[in-house]
Amino acid sequence: HVYLTRPLGEVVDQYSSAFGSREVRIHPDTEFPPPREELLKAVAGAEALITTVTDRIDEEVFDAAGDQLKVVANVAVGYDNIDLEAAAARGITVTNTPGVLDEAVADLTLGLMLATTRRVVEADRFLRTGREWIWGPQGYVGLDISAGASLGIVGLGRIGMAVAKRAQAFGMKIVATGSRATSEEAQQLGVIPAASVAELLPQVDVLSLHCPLTEENRHLIGAAQLQSMKPGSYLINTARGPLVDEKALVAALNSGHLAGAGLDVHEFEPQTDPQLREMEQVVMLPHIGSAGGATRRKMATLALDNVLAVLNGEQPPTPVR
Ligand code: GLV
Ligand code: GLV
Repeated sequence: HVYLTRPLGEVVDQYSSAFGSREVRIHPDTEFPPPREELLKAVAGAEALITTVTDRIDEEVFDAAGDQLKVVANVAVGYDNIDLEAAAARGITVTNTPGVLDEAVADLTLGLMLATTRRVVEADRFLRTGREWIWGPQGYVGLDISAGASLGIVGLGRIGMAVAKRAQAFGMKIVATGSRATSEEAQQLGVIPAASVAELLPQVDVLSLHCPLTEENRHLIGAAQLQSMKPGSYLINTARGPLVDEKALVAALNSGHLAGAGLDVHEFEPQTDPQLREMEQVVMLPHIGSAGGATRRKMATLALDNVLAVLNGEQPPTPVR
């Protein structure tokens, strides 16, 4: 059978005949993934798993599944939830969904940047108190993105480039690290390449993270890095929570060194930091970067195409390595 850890909508129905005699089994809960015990039972005998960022797919899952497991298709561009070494050792193909979500994540990143720097959520919360108010010249003053504010992009890849295009339209000065920072496309957007994150940090008013999470870059942004940022600057994270040391972020926000943070992802998801939750200058979202309707359909379709290819003995469209 093919096991889906979450319902992915109607697109799945279109594949049932393509899977032939294989049964498609779907964890029915739309809100929560299968608890560990249930996951380990459900994967037994599966040839393919369709998983999401909330499923830790490791040795234990592969043992529970059995030797017939051929492919794990993650419905996400990131795949830090999957043990690639363990998969490779067993000849299991791992696929992800790159490309189809770049624009949706970039849109949300700009939305989060504007919401954070212009205090949109804080102002919304104020109005809902029903307290007396009137327009004021010093009310809810924030950062002028379009007055030459500088944006630091850590990880100028597919998503980073989509963010850079939008930021360029806002007139931001863009400094970036990453594989495409010195590309012609980046040059045309006026991107200034930085040799390292350390070189980038002191130059920017807004820092936005767009790199994958790896063993090496956990806490890429810690106390020292935050301290090296400009006083009054902002952090935006729509990549992965553990890239940022949240304790250090709390301290940088409490001291006023950082003016605010926009976080779509969190270090200990699904937990959010209680201190960050109390801060007016923090905008928090429940990991919704790719949550556009068409985007989510494309992600599901690509994951299903990957599974189908592997089950048919073909090269999948987007293997992770
Ligand atoms: C979501 O977090 C993704 O990696 O696509
Ligand atoms: C504000 O409402 C303005 O007219 O500038």
